[in-house]
Order: sequence, then C-alpha cells, then structure tokens
Amino acid sequence: MRKQVKGNVSWVGYLDWELQLFHGHDYRIEHGSSQNAYLIEEEKTVLVDTVWSPHRSEFVENLKREVDLKSIDFIVANHGECDHSGSLVELMKEIPDTPIYCTKSAVKSIQGQYGDRGWDMRVVKTGDTLDIGNGKTLTFIETPMMHWPDSMATFLSGDNILFSMDAFGQHYAVEDLYADLADQDILWGEALKYFVNILNPFAGFVAKKLAEIEAMDLPIEMIAPSHGAIWREDPLKIVGKYAEWADAYQEDRVVVAYGTMWKGTERIAHAIADEIYRQSPTTNVHVFDVEASDKNEVMTEVFRSRAIAVGSPTYINGLLAGVEGWLAFLRSLKFKGKKAAAFGCYGWSGESVRILQDKLAGAGFDVVEPSIRANWVPDESDLSAIPDLVRALLAEPANADV
Ligand code: FEO
Repeated sequence: MRKQVKGNVSWVGYLDWELQLFHGHDYRIEHGSSQNAYLIEEEKTVLVDTVWSPHRSEFVENLKREVDLKSIDFIVANHGECDHSGSLVELMKEIPDTPIYCTKSAVKSIQGQYGDRGWDMRVVKTGDTLDIGNGKTLTFIETPMMHWPDSMATFLSGDNILFSMDAFGQHYAVEDLYADLADQDILWGEALKYFVNILNPFAGFVAKKLAEIEAMDLPIEMIAPSHGAIWREDPLKIVGKYAEWADAYQEDRVVVAYGTMWKGTERIAHAIADEIYRQSPTTNVHVFDVEASDKNEVMTEVFRSRAIAVGSPTYINGLLAGVEGWLAFLRSLKFKGKKAAAFGCYGWSGESVRILQDKLAGAGFDVVEPSIRANWVPDESDLSAIPDLVRALLAEPANADV
C-alpha cells in the first residue's frame, strides 16, 4: 500500500519484517528492515527506486493498484545494488520504454546484474536536474561510496525532500514511516549500527560528501533514505551525527574481545576488564566472546571505544577460526585512532599473541605493550602484567591536547 510522505510524494516500498540477514551473513537484522521506494506525482510521475527481487511481484502488483504503470514518466535508480534495483526486471516488462535516470556506474551495476536489456538508461551527474512540472525539479547528487561507487541522492525542490539512498538509513521496519514516531532507542541504535557496519570503511568519502552537500545549500526539510525511517523532524540532526561519526569517533569505552578453548583466555579477558575498572571506574567496558556474539553489535561497540584488547589461544599454530574471521571483519571496517592490546593462552607452540598483534596493526590499530601470553592456565605471574597493559591502553596519545 502507499503511504503519503509529503505533498504528492508517497512511500511505495516494502516493509521487510522477516529479514534476518543482509549482505549474506555479514549483517544480522534485529528489528526488521525496509526497502523504501517513492512515487512522486506532479505533472510528471516519477518512481524513485524499487525493492529487493524476492518481493518484486508484490511490489509491482501493489504499484499497479496505486498508479497506472504506463503513467510513470521517469524512474530514478539512485543505486544499482539489488536491494533497490531488484524489481526493475519485473517492472520493465510492463513499461520497457520508461527512461531510467542513474549514474554512469549504476548503468554498469544494473547491466552487470540483469544484462543489457535495451532499457533507456540516462546517465546523470551531480547538479543535473530534471523538470517534473508544477514548478518542481529533481536535482541529482552523486554520492560514491555511500554506499557503493554508483550511489547517488536525489533532491526534490518545492517539497525539499532529499532521497538519500543508503546514507542516513537504518535496518529498522517502522510501520509509521517517520523517525519521530519510531522507538528512539532502537532508531538511533540502528542508525549507528548501520553507519558502523556499512559506511565506516568509507568515512573519508562520507565526510567530504557531507561538506559538498552543505555547500550546495539545499533547503532540506526531509530526508528519505532507502532503508528504515524517514527523518522529518530536525532532519539535519542525522547529518550532524554522520559528520561526528565520520571523524574518528570515540567515547571513553573499551572493548575486550576474545575467543577461548578451555576458559584460560576468557580468564585473562575478565582480569583485564576488572583492571580497567580499577584504574578508570568511569570507563565503560564491554567483554565479548566474539565467537558467540553478534559481530555487528561488537563492531558497533568497538567503533564507540577508544581501545580494544583482543585474545585468542593458540590453535594449530594460529588463532581460533572464529577470532580469525572476526579480525578480517574488523580490518574491513577501517577504524581509526584506536589502541589495541593482545592476549592469549597456549599449550605448545604459542604463536597467537604475535599473530594477533600483527593483525591488529594491519587493521590500523596502535598496538601497545605489554601483551599477556600464558602457558597452559594463566597464573598470578601471567596476570601480573595486566596493570601495565591497561595503563598503556588507557594512556592518552602524546599529542592528545596539541
Ligand atoms: Fe541498500 Fe547499498 O544498498
């Protein structure tokens, strides 16, 4: 069904209550999600984006109930990723001659996925406009790496709505459509989780693009992303949050993340957490067994933290597989300006701590000493270096106040 957004703009997307995973198994969904598509009905009728292919038939049938498909003058494809372009094939069977406005890279993405079907693809660049009648225009803004190279946003004048694509979205199904009607704790938690797990690797691009959009001086009154709730009250608050998050964000928090075989490495993890409390009672500490935890939640905590301690026992000359995979994901998120320490138990060869240090450095962390490396079961002499490890983790960088 359609839901009115503002003026002659309606939401015609798909509320995905059942979605549990996104990007394969890389993102666990906790509160549903949505693929937002929008219909603009001025002198010209415009469809902004579609929904993921499993919902394509329902999407096209719903759309038919709301509008004569043949009356759609233009389609705007803000992004080629299949959660937004996945119904195009089904839709274009009905209206094969309707022009599709998108970036040059989106042509590559759409044709790469669905083949060159002879659709009328019209390439746009930042600043290009499209007159849709009644004194309103669409202005296109390329937003590469928000979230893939082909992404763009579209600004509708008059109603002053920025269709921002993935940026400013959340994996959160909100029946009432608007952010101000959603549960605020879930909304902001999901907005942050989305930024950390989807956009943080491209934080440099995000910061630059936000400055560019600000310089365009668009009178933005509403931000309508492609996932989750629409920002209508104080819409620039989420833009401000993105600027903050994109600037090597951190709070007075520390994550202790580990995998364990026989609870020895876990014991060191708990001892490190206790020592952080002893040295700095106001520092917020979170301890996670990474093999048993939601990695998106752990990464969101890592993003908020100023330092992490990571542990694994030595397992067949390496790390536990769960820790190894977790570290690969950590590296992909490209965190900046954080310290890290390593710890772990071993029975025989004992390489895990050195491997952890190498991998943490490779992931962009400032690795501190000492580490904790305990043979068999950690005893008091192994744990005696923990106060120094914690002091090094909590120490301000030498140039902190410069
Ligand atoms: Fe929601 Fe990058 O797709």
